[in-house]
Amino acid sequence: SEAELEARIIAAKAELGDRVAILGHFYQRDEVVRHADFVGDSFMLAQAAKQHPEAEAFVFCGVHFMAETADILSGEDQAVILPNLAAGCSMADMATIDQVEECWRQLTDTLGTEPDTDGRQPVIPVTYMNSSAAIKAFCGRNGGIVCTSSNARTVLEWAFVRGQRVVFFPDQHLGRNTAKAMGITEDEMPLWRPHLPLGGNTVEQLEHAQVILWNGFCSVHKRFTVAQIEQARAEYPGVRVIVHPECPAAVVEAADANGSTEVIRRAIEEASPGDVIAIGTEINLVNRLADEHPDLTIFCLDPVVCPCSTMYRIHPAYLAWTLESLLAGETPNRITVDPAVADASRVALERMLAARP
Ligand code: 13P
Ligand code: SF4
Repeated sequence: SEAELEARIIAAKAELGDRVAILGHFYQRDEVVRHADFVGDSFMLAQAAKQHPEAEAFVFCGVHFMAETADILSGEDQAVILPNLAAGCSMADMATIDQVEECWRQLTDTLGTEPDTDGRQPVIPVTYMNSSAAIKAFCGRNGGIVCTSSNARTVLEWAFVRGQRVVFFPDQHLGRNTAKAMGITEDEMPLWRPHLPLGGNTVEQLEHAQVILWNGFCSVHKRFTVAQIEQARAEYPGVRVIVHPECPAAVVEAADANGSTEVIRRAIEEASPGDVIAIGTEINLVNRLADEHPDLTIFCLDPVVCPCSTMYRIHPAYLAWTLESLLAGETPNRITVDPAVADASRVALERMLAARP
């Protein structure tokens, strides 16, 4: 039963003490988040992996690419465990390293590799955190960088100091929303469709491009619509609408604000009693914020519940099993990134951690 699982998790965690740190993403269900030593957005979780040198192991309650990142940034002797190996991310799966390398080959063939008179490379590869370690490593090896939804603009500015253009993997929406906010126009951001030659673009379109957007998306966030925002405004005059930048551009434009899960959380913390706030992001976070703030009216823009099905795969039963296995001296479901891939990924991740607006 739920109560039994809860008791098992509490008991195992108490016995493990400081040896194990449980990290959880904001989208995790309450029954998991409750046990986490640290909860955050993907940027904060990457930092947290560096900030617990005492832990022998991290139990990472999130998805696969986040656990890979934790393994890359944590100490060599620290194990990172993903309680359920089936917790992936459908967006991260939309770009494979082979497709990315093929895209790069075509881009460098078309645009060359010679820097301009300001020393700027023809293209800088930028990957959203939501991508495999292999793609982060590719960026590390090719003068590129990683970003999260909380620093995408800072990272693009970093990239434009070093490059004439950016190719952005794999979320077209975060890429487009960030580029638009920087004044880049629609015709300067062609979409790269990996199954088509030149991604379905002409040479002129690529030469004219500022940000080349990989054709990936988040299936949770792409469901939000402008009609939902209009309906919320009709029902609750004065409602404040906050959405995640993985939502389509028209939705971000119709909203009052957009930002990472941490930005959304902070906006709620800063709201005044009686405020009405509609949120466009994963339902577990929205429901938790609503429960924590009974003095506010908080609801999800999408009336049909929209959980991230892979985040949801971290069931408390897996957490209990993972902690009990650690107690028994086993290290199940360990995520280990190949050392060469980890070294190159770390280059791209450290560039991100050091990038300043
Ligand atoms: P952030 O936690 O960076 O906002 O990202 C949201 C997300 O979709 C993670 O998969
Ligand atoms: Fe991936 Fe979207 Fe789930 Fe985030 S919410 S883990 S981007 S599928």
